[in-house]
Amino acid sequence: MKKKTLVLLLAMSMIFTFALGACSKSGGSGGDEGGDDATLKVVTEATFAPFEFTEDGSEEIVGFDVDMMNAIAEDQGLKIEWVNMEFDSLIPALESDQGDIICAGMNKLAGDRAEKADFGETYFESDLMLLVAADSDLSGIDAVTSDMKLASQIGTTGGDMVQEMAKEGKIAEGIVLNQWTDCYMQLQNGDVQGVIVDKPVGEAYLKAHSDIAKFAGDKFGDHEEFAFAVKKGNTELLDKLNTGLANLKESGKYDELVDKWFS
Ligand code: ARG
Repeated sequence: MKKKTLVLLLAMSMIFTFALGACSKSGGSGGDEGGDDATLKVVTEATFAPFEFTEDGSEEIVGFDVDMMNAIAEDQGLKIEWVNMEFDSLIPALESDQGDIICAGMNKLAGDRAEKADFGETYFESDLMLLVAADSDLSGIDAVTSDMKLASQIGTTGGDMVQEMAKEGKIAEGIVLNQWTDCYMQLQNGDVQGVIVDKPVGEAYLKAHSDIAKFAGDKFGDHEEFAFAVKKGNTELLDKLNTGLANLKESGKYDELVDKWFS
């Protein structure tokens, strides 16, 4: 009787050990841990036209970044899916394995981002601009006064700047919002006197709203280099993304996408 119980316990412990091992191989968000055919999550914040945005109530994310990353994935044989979330959740998503790649017009030179994630080669360059109402007489960022309010998106270089300006007393309030569309609405409603926005994104907004808004003054702040990012240490995936980008530039596909979205 005792021998039978021992054999049964041994068999059960072997089954349990095998099951435990199988579960640990499917960790992460479906990235490399899940094997080569796993679907990678590309995380972004999709109110940033023409890089990533949705239109007419659709949940489908479109834009330059989407076309570029989809082309890189095809070139490198990667399966990807896009996940829309708040901008200041993007790097935490990598750190917690809720995402595998950030592609969101993110400036790789800003703050401590490069300490928290590994960024790839630069795929676009930009600067910050001040968007104001069409009838504003504000001449530029250096002309703002301490009674004014400026808005930008939370967690971004513009968002950090409006908060810093408020802390320094240069403006009355720096309003940081989750979506760029809300920032534009604040400007349209007269709730803020300006929005700090990336130049190509402001230009896209002005294409459709030059009757109610304009740029005030020239670019300011630090020059920006947009890059995709992966979890710290995931060099294998980053190398694939960088190779894919290089191949897109070599083949002319990159220039084709620039023409499509920025001409
Ligand atoms: N370039 C700015 C930054 O890196 C803004 C990026 C906003 N991107 C977005 N998809 N909402 O902070």
